[in-house]
Amino acid sequence: MHALPLLLLNLVHLFLRISAREFLLPGSSLSIEDSSHMLRSPDGTFTCGFKNISRNASVFSIWFSNTVDKTVVWSANHLHPVYSWGSRVMLYADGGMVLEDYNGQSVWENSVNSSSTAVKAQLLDTGNLIVKGQGDIILWQSFHSPTDTLLPYQNITSATKLVSTSRLLIPGRYSFHFDDQHLLTLFDDEKDISFIYWPNPNSDIWTKQRNSFNTTTIGVLDSWGYFLGSDNLNFKASDWGIRIMRRLTLDYDGNLRLYSLNKTDGTWLVTWMALPQTCSIRSLCGTNGICVYTPRPSCACAPGHEIIDPNDRSQGCRPKFNTSCDGQEMFVKLPNTDFRGNEQSKNTSVSFHTCKKICLNDCNCKGFLYWQASGGCYPIPFGW
Ligand SMILES: *[C@@H]1O[C@H](CO)[C@@H](O)[C@H](O)[C@H]1NC(C)=O
Ligand SMILES: *[C@@H]1O[C@H](CO)[C@@H](O)[C@H](O)[C@H]1NC(C)=O
Ligand SMILES: *[C@@H]1O[C@H](CO)[C@@H](O)[C@H](O)[C@H]1NC(C)=O
Ligand SMILES: *[C@@H]1O[C@H](CO)[C@@H](O)[C@H](O)[C@H]1NC(C)=O
Ligand SMILES: *[C@@H]1O[C@H](CO)[C@@H](O)[C@H](O)[C@H]1NC(C)=O
Ligand SMILES: *[C@@H]1O[C@H](CO)[C@@H](O)[C@H](O)[C@H]1NC(C)=O
Ligand SMILES: *[C@@H]1O[C@H](CO)[C@@H](O)[C@H](O)[C@H]1NC(C)=O
Ligand SMILES: *[C@@H]1O[C@H](CO)[C@@H](O)[C@H](O)[C@H]1NC(C)=O
Repeated sequence: MHALPLLLLNLVHLFLRISAREFLLPGSSLSIEDSSHMLRSPDGTFTCGFKNISRNASVFSIWFSNTVDKTVVWSANHLHPVYSWGSRVMLYADGGMVLEDYNGQSVWENSVNSSSTAVKAQLLDTGNLIVKGQGDIILWQSFHSPTDTLLPYQNITSATKLVSTSRLLIPGRYSFHFDDQHLLTLFDDEKDISFIYWPNPNSDIWTKQRNSFNTTTIGVLDSWGYFLGSDNLNFKASDWGIRIMRRLTLDYDGNLRLYSLNKTDGTWLVTWMALPQTCSIRSLCGTNGICVYTPRPSCACAPGHEIIDPNDRSQGCRPKFNTSCDGQEMFVKLPNTDFRGNEQSKNTSVSFHTCKKICLNDCNCKGFLYWQASGGCYPIPFGW
């Protein structure tokens, strides 16, 4: 009589065990069709496997198991999703992990020393996917190649950077990493040039409250929600304290935000952000766009311009008129409007009239920013 309940219990236990795995052994693979082919961290906080981003397209990712939207914290291939049937990820004896599309094409692989011997791949409770070798050495870890998110205990170093993920399948334009002065910095990466927009590039090092050129370059978020960088960048979650799940994410809009999980309903709460004034994010509204507080930040077009893509305001606005270079005066005044990041072509202490003339004499000038108080003159070239 006692045998039956015991047997049932074992079956339930077995069922839970196979619904996700804790290890991937060398020579085996996770295939996309099998929902049991996922790695889960021992305490269940994180899951690693294929996550579909549309009906037929999937990305090999790590996500929070218990949040409403299964928030992704790392992904191998978000720019090259694989087909949702027939794709797989394999662990080889040397610790190499390879992600293959349905047709066998390799889409992503980790980089390990080919002379090593792997024991297993596993997902830790910190959200770190590791490949372990003999003697417990770590051959590869996802923490060393972050995507857009840092988790507590995950170091940002001079070798790592966060890149924003745009919602379309194109590389994000914003990044967060150490700059050439060893300061943790937000960049707007244009085609061939990067612009700093945080900390404010116009402030000096004392206003920034940072230390440049520290020989160690490291930054990490601790379990209390306190971030400290070797450049003295430091900030604290507004709900500072332990036993709260957090993530630091460079969002698609270019703002760096610290989030805390509400365990009751699985949603995220912003507990710190780099730029409370969102309009300070460079190129948020694109060329010819103007960011306005309504009071929520939103994008408008400069007069005489129209929206290029209503679903992606960072595309900016296009002129509704033809431009010519016949020296005709056709300026519209935009009071209290700032155009940032064009410091190189500045003229100081000139009159308004001179500033206007500088622009009129330059076929590449579409307008100018004039600071009444200082006489600062910033001609704005086309393409901005
Ligand atoms: C992912 O697949 C599931 C089941 O096939 C489907 O219900 C869901 O809508 C898909 N998600 C997306 C984003 O397409
Ligand atoms: C997904 O793939 C199936 C065939 O495998 C195809 O019939 C269907 O149109 C595809 N759906 C999309 C949204 O591409
Ligand atoms: C690979 O392993 C060998 C032997 O352990 C070591 O000498 C070498 O530095 C390693 N190479 C890299 C790139 O880690
Ligand atoms: C982070 O850096 C510290 C100090 O250098 C080091 O002890 C720790 O192992 C690093 N953590 C990871 C996950 O690499
Ligand atoms: C340099 O970075 C290290 C490691 O984060 C830190 O202990 C040290 O205080 C920093 N030095 C300065 C001058 O900020
Ligand atoms: C967490 O979510 C619950 C349910 O939605 C809500 O009542 C509570 O106020 C939230 N907590 C915080 C700190 O926002
Ligand atoms: C701009 O120029 C093109 C070609 O020269 C012309 O077809 C168009 O009507 C012009 N648009 C305006 C608004 O003048
Ligand atoms: C404006 O600045 C440019 C470059 O710095 C300089 O060549 C030019 O002479 C200046 N013009 C005036 C009117 O000051």
